[in-house]
Amino acid sequence: MTVSSALPKIPDRGGPAQPLLTVRGLTKSFGLRMPFGKYSQSFKAVRDISFEVGKGTTLGIVGESGCGKSTCARLIAGITASDSGEVLLDGQEFWTPGATIGREMRRALQMVFQDSSSSLNPKMTIGDTIAFGAKVHGMPRREAEVLAQELLSKVGLAPHEYLHRLPHQLSGGQRQRVNIARAIAVGPRLLILDEPVSALDKAVEAQVLDLLLGLKKEADLTYIFISHDLNVIRFIADEVAVMYLGEIVEMGPVADVFSRPSHPYTQALLASRLSLDPADRPTSAPLRGEPPALGEKMAGCPFRTRCDRSADVCAERAPMLESVSTMMPRHQVSCWIANDGAARRGQVGGKGV
Ligand SMILES: Nc1ncnc2c1ncn2[C@@H]1O[C@H](COP(=O)(O)OP(=O)(O)OP(=O)(O)O)[C@@H](O)[C@H]1O
Ligand SMILES: [Mg+2]
Repeated sequence: MTVSSALPKIPDRGGPAQPLLTVRGLTKSFGLRMPFGKYSQSFKAVRDISFEVGKGTTLGIVGESGCGKSTCARLIAGITASDSGEVLLDGQEFWTPGATIGREMRRALQMVFQDSSSSLNPKMTIGDTIAFGAKVHGMPRREAEVLAQELLSKVGLAPHEYLHRLPHQLSGGQRQRVNIARAIAVGPRLLILDEPVSALDKAVEAQVLDLLLGLKKEADLTYIFISHDLNVIRFIADEVAVMYLGEIVEMGPVADVFSRPSHPYTQALLASRLSLDPADRPTSAPLRGEPPALGEKMAGCPFRTRCDRSADVCAERAPMLESVSTMMPRHQVSCWIANDGAARRGQVGGKGV
């Protein structure tokens, strides 16, 4: 990025073929308080999640509220401690349980959250907010101030007008631009954007998405973009992971998953997508039933109680993510029925419950 006073770029280690982010077996349980406070049990908010994000690409994570998207993001960033799993950044261990994250690594991964105001200090000016992280990472005060001005222009806010304002003097879209500027001020390689446009109206959402696309190219960034809006994911992401009850149930290139969704849950999500064309609106409820209660131990496939296609094998063993076909190795689905190969292997194996 052509920002004259930026912090030094974090060097690329593994070359273009090495994923920027590798996540393996990430799992997190939370305690569940029961009514009357008698006892508590735990449930897995994120279970055994693995994926890779290629350098310069965007992975979209989509799924209903409560399916574990934010927890997954917080686990990757090391904000929430995981029960098990590992996260590698450009081939290097990002965190190990109990250990603190090194300074350069911490700088390499930044997050932007949905709530634009609560992530900004209400008493700090916009200029100070953007400069703060760069100063923490060792940039002299004067340089950090110049950087803040340059980044404000980059995100479309005139520095002379906004530098000395406080967060409450900005609109939601403007605050989100400040959050983005603040994140890129430390020269990260990976941005995790957790519903960054969900609170914005459609016109502002489109502007912020365009800004993110431009910055990604300019600053050589990689994104994980979390959203419950499939239209947004289709616009911004290269690959998509669909989550259901803490698991990835389908994953692959956006074009493949959107044109040939394999998991019945993905199909239902796509069917319920709001269409601007009245002739293209769904006429029936896309998903029947409710997801099982948190903490309920369920054998087999977690989606089977809501699935029209479920068979005996679905109640017996949990399916695993497997390629939909040998022709499309990156398009993976976790469903005994959708995946022919998996159904055959269902006779002999499957993930334990
Ligand atoms: N610190 C916590 N303690 C206990 N339970 C938690 C905690 N954080 C999250 N959960 C629970 O874990 C599950 C997943 O939550 P999470 O916030 O990750 O979902 P999400 O997919 O981001 O949802 P949304 O779309 O509403 O943001 C939910 O049932 C939530 O209540
Ligand atoms: Mg969330």
